[in-house]
Amino acid sequence: METKQWLLPPDEVRPSHPFLIEAAKLLRQGEVVAFPTETVYGLGADAYSDQAVAKIYAAKGRPSDNPLILHFYDPGQVKEVVTHLPPLAEELFRRFSPGPLTLILPNNGRASSLATAGLSTVAVRIPNHPVALALLREVGRPLAAPSANRSGKPSPTKAAHVLADLEGRIAGIIDGGETGIGLESTVLDITLSPPQILRPGGITKESLEEVIGEVVVDPALNQSNAPPKAPGLKYPHYAPRAPLTLVADLNPSRRRWKMAAQAAELIRDGKRVGILTTDEDVPYFEEHLPGEPGNHWVILSLGERGNLDGIAQHLYDTLRSFDPLDVDEIIGESFPKGGIGAAIMNRLSKAAGRILP
Ligand code: TXA
Ligand code: MG
Repeated sequence: METKQWLLPPDEVRPSHPFLIEAAKLLRQGEVVAFPTETVYGLGADAYSDQAVAKIYAAKGRPSDNPLILHFYDPGQVKEVVTHLPPLAEELFRRFSPGPLTLILPNNGRASSLATAGLSTVAVRIPNHPVALALLREVGRPLAAPSANRSGKPSPTKAAHVLADLEGRIAGIIDGGETGIGLESTVLDITLSPPQILRPGGITKESLEEVIGEVVVDPALNQSNAPPKAPGLKYPHYAPRAPLTLVADLNPSRRRWKMAAQAAELIRDGKRVGILTTDEDVPYFEEHLPGEPGNHWVILSLGERGNLDGIAQHLYDTLRSFDPLDVDEIIGESFPKGGIGAAIMNRLSKAAGRILP
């Protein structure tokens, strides 16, 4: 299949733009089209069509027991797929939507049961991106849309990532440039009391609590023996090709020392090592690693360690950048878990095969 590509910068979006009309037409015909959101690129299909939704699972190679998030242009449209909109949902929409928040609500059965994996709940979100919102209006139906990567790979924050994974497998992609937040939405289950965060993301626990009071985090996210409540979180995720080892120690000098010691051991074993670090630590590794730069090791920085929003924005792109560099193993650093740090560490821990104390 030829994958159509439309270049549509966010500031050129207007209703009835010819590219949006073309993409919407394909979507209404049951094809899948990738589009930018403020978090990551999504792979959209008509949420009311089993046949269309089946193409998402096929293109991604995604297990069918992992339900999809449905995307809407406003809270009124959300009412099409839920038994009712609880006052708490209205309050959260008022405060955080459009934005990186996905709510789990009672399912009225209208959406494709493939999209909801047969659950009695449905995941809904109103994305804060001009291209996504204009496309949703043009289609006139909700779009089921997971992240537009092959299952298991880091989520796409650029159109090039989507094409690397899915070119030839999907009908089209709207290239709206790099996404802003870089990590997926926060998934909040408000059918539970108190509301529970099933996946940390762009909206932090702290900012949710300011609006709705107590919020708990799915306990399974912090221990490995219980299965997480979001069905997808039990699968491997976000992984670059080379195995990633994460050093958990947050003490700056111990962190650097442990990472360099790990890397040195691998280099002595003849491995080509990737270092995933931040600007502040690059000189330390350049000075302390044995062997030659570019040959025995390569360093990629996520940006300034103090700027967690920037780290989130660059995380997936940086993880993907190790693939063409052909490293055998990657050693990465950890971040404090407050605010957006919770989402960063959730993704890094899932990407890592091994976490060292
Ligand atoms: O930012 C995002 O949320 C992106 C963009 C494209 O909107 N989408 C995204 O979708 O990350 P995906 O499919 O990669 O992740 C959806 C997550 C999965 O972990 C899934 O298991 C969970 O949401 N989920 C979906 N429906 C659910 C439900 N009814 N109950 C619990 N978890 C659900
Ligand atoms: Mg995903």
